[in-house]
Amino acid sequence: MPKDRVLVTGGAGYIGSHTVIELINNGYEIIIVDNLSNSSPDVIPKLKEITGKMVSFVNLDIRNKLALQTFFKRTERIESVIHFAALKSVNESVEQPLAYYENNIQGTINLLEAMLENKVNSLVFSSSCTVYGSPDHLPVTEMSPLGHTPSPYGYSKQVCERLIHDTVHAHPELSAISLRYFNPIGAHKSGLIGEVPSGPPNNLMPYITQTAAGVREILSVYGDDYNTPDGTAIRDYIHVSDLAAAHVSALSRLQSSDKPSGVEYFNIGTGKGSTVMEVIRSFEKASGRPLDYKVVGRRDGDIEAIYADASKSKEILKWSAQYDLDDMTASAWTWEKNYRGIN
Ligand code: NAD
Ligand code: UFG
Repeated sequence: MPKDRVLVTGGAGYIGSHTVIELINNGYEIIIVDNLSNSSPDVIPKLKEITGKMVSFVNLDIRNKLALQTFFKRTERIESVIHFAALKSVNESVEQPLAYYENNIQGTINLLEAMLENKVNSLVFSSSCTVYGSPDHLPVTEMSPLGHTPSPYGYSKQVCERLIHDTVHAHPELSAISLRYFNPIGAHKSGLIGEVPSGPPNNLMPYITQTAAGVREILSVYGDDYNTPDGTAIRDYIHVSDLAAAHVSALSRLQSSDKPSGVEYFNIGTGKGSTVMEVIRSFEKASGRPLDYKVVGRRDGDIEAIYADASKSKEILKWSAQYDLDDMTASAWTWEKNYRGIN
């Protein structure tokens, strides 16, 4: 007897695809809705290969309200939604703010309306530690104040959290959890799925693996004059499979009678900060090859340091990260090698 049927928006993407595996392995039935704007249909057969189960996939753009409403009406027995579908590039959002607001905010509004109309009452939302802005105190807890987010992308996450909060307040039958991801990196242990950035990566880990694979010439380290042990910025990197597992815990929480009404917020990180140089060293150890890098100036909008207090997730979701930084960089390299056909 399968558990709930879960609608996964953006399930063909990087975090969504890893989460689908965890959900199927935990007995959930899955329907992916994705417009493939930042993913490939090739991931669907890979999910079947990894899990041994069929994965339903519908090519649909959640900005299309009518198509989304029709999908909900025609699809029986959706119990919960995990909402990954969003545009996620910080730089691109500065250049195309309206595209980001339309996709991320209008998409979420359409989804909430369709859920209410079809009495689907459980939602897990993909939020980000970017909502904390540049924090005054570390580690950040869920009670830390939301900060200034310079990019439209970051602001769209704050707005979505607020509109989910207000909708749940007005419709108490709806229950939601917002997971604030720290920095997801790495790939599934099968090496069959992983992160595939379109164009030059903005993020550290894919830039490192693509440099080692010879796709990029050299990694630029953005600043070594921060007030950190080696001068490079600190982030809380989290293995994408650990992050995926947090969604299984969030769904269980939504179904438990212990969950208070309203929205609950959880930090999903390891609780440990690593500098850019520590990530590079870990990668060099995992890959057994030196990485070409040069230190350049700070990147606009970057913050010095952020890492999670993840104790609320441990206590309430019964979730904590299992993998360390070396596991993350090793799995990222395995994926890059497989993807590029490198031995
Ligand atoms: P991704 O781009 O790999 O996945 C997002 C998926 O959503 C893609 O498959 C894309 O095609 C789909 N999509 C986008 N707009 C859509 C639309 N209008 N209709 C249907 N499908 C649409 O990104 P990801 O890294 O897997 O991120 C997933 C979620 O997690 C996003 O909400 C992102 O903002 C959030 N998040 C990501 C990170 C990160 O560093 N990767 C950190 C914090 C939060
Ligand atoms: N960095 C480099 N060189 C690069 C890329 C990054 O030195 O080529 C540095 C950055 O300056 C930063 C660190 O590596 O100090 C991490 O940078 P990322 O771009 O990988 O990650 P960010 O913390 O800047 O942002 C990411 C996502 C956001 C998300 C945030 C929190 O891009 O969307 O994590 O989840 F909100």
